[in-house]
Amino acid sequence: MAAVWVARVQGKHGFEKLVAIKTILAELAGDEQFRQMFLDEARIASAIEHPNVARILDLGEVGSVLYLAMEWIDGDSVNVLQRHAAKANTPIPLSVALRIAADVCAGLHAAHELRDAAGEPLGVIHRDVSPQNVLIVNGVSKVIDFGIAKARHRTADATTVGEVKGKVQYMAPEQALGVDLDRRADVFAAGAMLYQLVSGRTPFDSSSQLASLHLLCSDKPAPPLDASVPEPIRAAIFGALEKNVDKRTATCADLQRAIEDAAMATGQVATTNTVADFVNEVLSARAAKRKRSVELALSAASERKKLLESVPGIDDSGSLRRLEALAGIHLSPIAPHTQALRSVQPERPSRADRRSLAPLAIVSVAVVAIVALLALRRPSTSPSVQSAPSATAPSSPPSSPAAALASTAAPPPSSTTSASGTVTVAGTAAVKPSGGPAAPEPSTSAKKKKRPHFDDGF
Ligand SMILES: Nc1ncnc2c1ncn2[C@@H]1O[C@H](COP(=O)(O)OP(=O)(O)OP(=O)(O)O)[C@@H](O)[C@H]1O
Ligand SMILES: [Mg+2]
Repeated sequence: MAAVWVARVQGKHGFEKLVAIKTILAELAGDEQFRQMFLDEARIASAIEHPNVARILDLGEVGSVLYLAMEWIDGDSVNVLQRHAAKANTPIPLSVALRIAADVCAGLHAAHELRDAAGEPLGVIHRDVSPQNVLIVNGVSKVIDFGIAKARHRTADATTVGEVKGKVQYMAPEQALGVDLDRRADVFAAGAMLYQLVSGRTPFDSSSQLASLHLLCSDKPAPPLDASVPEPIRAAIFGALEKNVDKRTATCADLQRAIEDAAMATGQVATTNTVADFVNEVLSARAAKRKRSVELALSAASERKKLLESVPGIDDSGSLRRLEALAGIHLSPIAPHTQALRSVQPERPSRADRRSLAPLAIVSVAVVAIVALLALRRPSTSPSVQSAPSATAPSSPPSSPAAALASTAAPPPSSTTSASGTVTVAGTAAVKPSGGPAAPEPSTSAKKKKRPHFDDGF
């Protein structure tokens, strides 16, 4: 449901910092339910201050474009790590798997423990704990994507009876059954993640997702782990994967403790450096590509900025331009594109707008690309590039990261200019992975369109 961009915050005296900007996908931007879900995500995630949860820096809106500024996590997801490790025939060391899972538990527990101003528990449940939604940077795992998180005050819990949200491979049976949930659903998902990290397969894997669901909702426990996995570790995992919620490990803090105790007892302790070293061993080529992409995108953004400044009256169209103007931040696509040159003066922010956005006014944010990982990702999955090709946006897949970048760099005017101010500039969208067939498709016409499959990798 979202597109994620990497952006550059520029301040006085050469201050620069990368941030991630998440916006609702263009086709959903006008949908009130999705707007509410997005706002809920912002409210929930921004309240969590924990090193194992991606930090929210700002929530903004320009026109009808809602955006979330987050700490930029310069790393890959656990899903990518698993895939590349398997491809390279380099199994993830047990100690690394345990460290990742313990980090995830710590982050989730912080979310579960959130309270409102009156001290009342908010009852946050992530509901989509999965390897795709955990990013690793410098050996530290960070939970992202509270897009479908549940909380007591959530205004837009779009789940209706019979609907299921989340990815079925990691889902607790009660979540699959659509009954009332509590934090133990996330405990189960964290356990399922660890089971997969340790064994290479998800606990209730079957020939089809329907069969997996069937297995999940049966009385059968997950298949036993290999005997080479020490017993205390197996016990920690199976405690989390207990189908009966009342017998399951009660909290993520308990699971974290169980994992760390098991790690200590079996000599499988990994520090963040150990994790970072392993990630580097498997994913250093990707990290280098990402770095290059970001550099390219940054310089393209600078070029674009110069171009915009040199042509009076330029309107690089619609929402992004308005966002820049209203917020006092510079948010631009990653490369100049003459297609969108217009002789319309960009809107000036009203005094009130400028006041309300004052905290941002000191910085200049240049969107330099969809998150570099996204720029490098299979471009044919990009809905905006595909759906609205232009002379500057080739529809055939680019052959190199740079070409991929170029292909997303020049969005057609139709994608950047819209009365509703949607932001799909640069085109590549990161949407919820299609891992869970049971994940509901909201009944809007926009949702009926083929959604890009974001498989978290390239
Ligand atoms: N803070 C961040 N820093 C770097 N990359 C990020 C960040 N947040 C998200 N990403 C990238 O964007 C991808 C998609 O993000 P996210 O999971 O939040 O969106 P989504 O799955 O579309 O969410 P939603 O549940 O709102 O539909 C992530 O897998 C990751 O590759
Ligand atoms: Mg996600």
